[in-house]
Amino acid sequence: MQAPNPFRRGLIEDRAGDSCAMVIFGASGDLTRRKLMPALYNLAVSRSLPSGFAVAGVARRAKSPDEFRAEMKAGVTEFSRRKPLDPAVWGDFEKGVTYVQGSFEDANTYAKLKAQLEQLDRERGTGGNRLYYLAVSPADFAVIMRNLKEAGLVAPAAANSPTGHGGSPWTRVIIEKPFGTDLASAKALNDTVAETFHESQVFRIDHYLGKETVQNLLVFRFANSLWEPLWHREHIDHVQITVSEEIGVEGRGKFFEQTGITKDIVENHLMQLLCLTAMEPPISLSADAVRDEKVKVLRSLRRMERSLVQDNVVRGQYARGYVKGEAATGYREEADVAKDSRVETFVAMRMYIDNWRWGGVPFYVRAGKRLARRVTEIAIQFKKVPHGLFRAPDGGISPNVLTLRIQPDEGMALRFTTKEPGQVTVLRDVAMDFRYGAAFGSNTPEAYERLLLDAMRGEATLFTRRDEVEEQWAFIDPVIEAWRAEANAPPPLYEAGSWGPDQADDLLARDGRRWRKP
Ligand code: BG6
Repeated sequence: MQAPNPFRRGLIEDRAGDSCAMVIFGASGDLTRRKLMPALYNLAVSRSLPSGFAVAGVARRAKSPDEFRAEMKAGVTEFSRRKPLDPAVWGDFEKGVTYVQGSFEDANTYAKLKAQLEQLDRERGTGGNRLYYLAVSPADFAVIMRNLKEAGLVAPAAANSPTGHGGSPWTRVIIEKPFGTDLASAKALNDTVAETFHESQVFRIDHYLGKETVQNLLVFRFANSLWEPLWHREHIDHVQITVSEEIGVEGRGKFFEQTGITKDIVENHLMQLLCLTAMEPPISLSADAVRDEKVKVLRSLRRMERSLVQDNVVRGQYARGYVKGEAATGYREEADVAKDSRVETFVAMRMYIDNWRWGGVPFYVRAGKRLARRVTEIAIQFKKVPHGLFRAPDGGISPNVLTLRIQPDEGMALRFTTKEPGQVTVLRDVAMDFRYGAAFGSNTPEAYERLLLDAMRGEATLFTRRDEVEEQWAFIDPVIEAWRAEANAPPPLYEAGSWGPDQADDLLARDGRRWRKP
């Protein structure tokens, strides 16, 4: 048996979720096959699922429940982190998997669903609790929620006590990103959601928050006494956050043409990393205490007026090149991408958090597709020593850097300067390196496992609250607006397999700094 993960201890009680039926709208899509079902199967393997549990897939495509189960089995076999598939666990699990075919607009779909759910309550002990997962295009959200409500499939919020032991059955909804496409649409969507669900029933997913290393940011910062006194403008020179990918748009050209990297990665994943890095200590780990602190960071972000965008933001688009020795096509050659597309596949920004702790400390962030390496990391660069006591070859001593490696080589490193052994004083940079894999084994749960289980528990800390999403868009909107205003200027191209356009280097060079080469 695997040892319990020590990072979880104390952060959250180990308890199973409440018995429930999970209903996946958009069950024919890739997300269900690649992420949701493998996550549920792995929860079944680790016996973390509630005792009464069932899944109902809902989609337009005609197929029998048997066909649906066969497709899901193939998906789990291919994408589960645990291989090979355990036939006994799968056999048990699939007994609770069913499929409802119908269009999201048709009231009949919901009548069929209701009958199915009542049957699952009787046969699988799901206790009347409902966890709806909207893995559909945002255009379908409103109609699904309205129909659920009209069919009497939404319990009042009062039942949704955080521990799930409020007595009467609860209803919760998980909503996939993208949550809106700008501030106005996010607000409209929030209003629509609020017509059916109370905020305490709403779980907006950002899968980055389910990653072990992202959860560990809170533990690292607030369960160690070492860092907090240094986590401050007095000691920190600047922060760099990188979310780089080797992959291109992977057949999602149509989606990416509407989105670009800024809305796809920065508005959600990257800004969440920034919040966890910069937030004040919360008074507790309750969902609202943590999210209150994150919202304060978002509110303190210096807004980018148009003139600021020019000076602080660089975008780019990948051209042909080589990624890890393999030829890669340019963005404009990808399927469903306009030949003259101006959509950005790379963005770098200098951001400021205008509050007491961070006044004057730049946060340099970048995200991009088809870059040299897949890496997500947060690097905290401390200030240089105030006086150069030692003569180092480059005229200075390298500053200390603390790197929190989110993925793929999960861990953290602290770089510092030492004396090389010998008769003369020669300085050398070394690193203390901690690797999750070496310390805890490499089979860590996938983000979706943690997040689905938390939703079953009614634990919302790792989900984004309404005001958080709106603040994220309030920051991003003016940047996109500024680009729209200069519609004739295409983003600079960068070679696939590089670290982005030269302009990104210039952004830091102007401040006498350099991007890390992870
Ligand atoms: C998704 C984006 O939210 O995150 C994708 O839509 C991106 O474009 C993906 O590739 C990255 O997730 P991860 O977990 O592989 O870092």
